[in-house]
Amino acid sequence: LIKHIIKSQQFTRELLEKELFPLAREMEIVVEFGGSKLLEGKRMITFFYEPSTRTRASFEIAMDMLGGRVVFSTENATQFSSVVKGETLQDTIRVLNRYRPDVIILRHYEEGSAKKAAEASSIPIINAGDGPGQHPTQSLLDLYTIKKRLSRIDGISVAMVGDLKNGRTVRSLSYLLGKFDNINIFFVAPETATMKKDIKIYLKKHRVKFLETDKLIDVAPKADVIYQTRTQKERGTVMDRSNFIIDKKILGLMKKEAIIMHPLPRNEEIALEVDGDERSVYLTEQIDNGLYIRMALLKMILEP
Ligand code: CP
Repeated sequence: LIKHIIKSQQFTRELLEKELFPLAREMEIVVEFGGSKLLEGKRMITFFYEPSTRTRASFEIAMDMLGGRVVFSTENATQFSSVVKGETLQDTIRVLNRYRPDVIILRHYEEGSAKKAAEASSIPIINAGDGPGQHPTQSLLDLYTIKKRLSRIDGISVAMVGDLKNGRTVRSLSYLLGKFDNINIFFVAPETATMKKDIKIYLKKHRVKFLETDKLIDVAPKADVIYQTRTQKERGTVMDRSNFIIDKKILGLMKKEAIIMHPLPRNEEIALEVDGDERSVYLTEQIDNGLYIRMALLKMILEP
């Protein structure tokens, strides 16, 4: 039984396949019928130290869809809360606990902050992104999207492209892929933005084949999933994007049934001409699945 959601490694293959994904399917039906009262009386706080559109909106809408309430929400805690006056994360979490929420959704700029918060909290904490650390709920929706579109996870080839050094979504997704069989990962990045060592050690331990390259053009024809990422300038990444952009030329090289993913927000790394392609799922299915998965997670944590 999971209490806090801190990192994607917490999810076993069995939990994903037997519980979370079937629950997300049920949530698709709940949304189709305009919502339910499954979590009536439950209260959620969303406390974000970093800006967000998708994660905060989808969690808040997920709670509303299930009949629960968002009782307190801040989009920029470093500006609009007593964090400005120097309050620590732990004190903040202890105080929020006293207001009797049932769950706190936390985004923070520091790696390890969600774990710290969970240690100070008797109420479930869900990590909505901790600096360059992890973004577990994003990887769950990403994996769900892959499973739905490709009808399989075992045996796929995934190209992760762009800022692999400071992008947290690719880290969380790598951990999840490590739970499946015959996965092939291409880490496509320039020298200034390569995947960190801890992930490579984990993948080796879990017998996941991976290859590091800076040639997107070579990898595009081989991948079942191209997972593009933004340059995390706010975390200090400097990279020349010119060889790491998905455009018509890359589309032309890709498999017919492959998909193009991106956690968003997107900058220049996916050309607008790619949006209308049948293989692009970043502005459509990934967004829908984010809502279903977050509804399923709230149900799993609050009404196990
Ligand atoms: N993918 C993602 O986390 O988006 P937001 O930063 O808008 O929440």
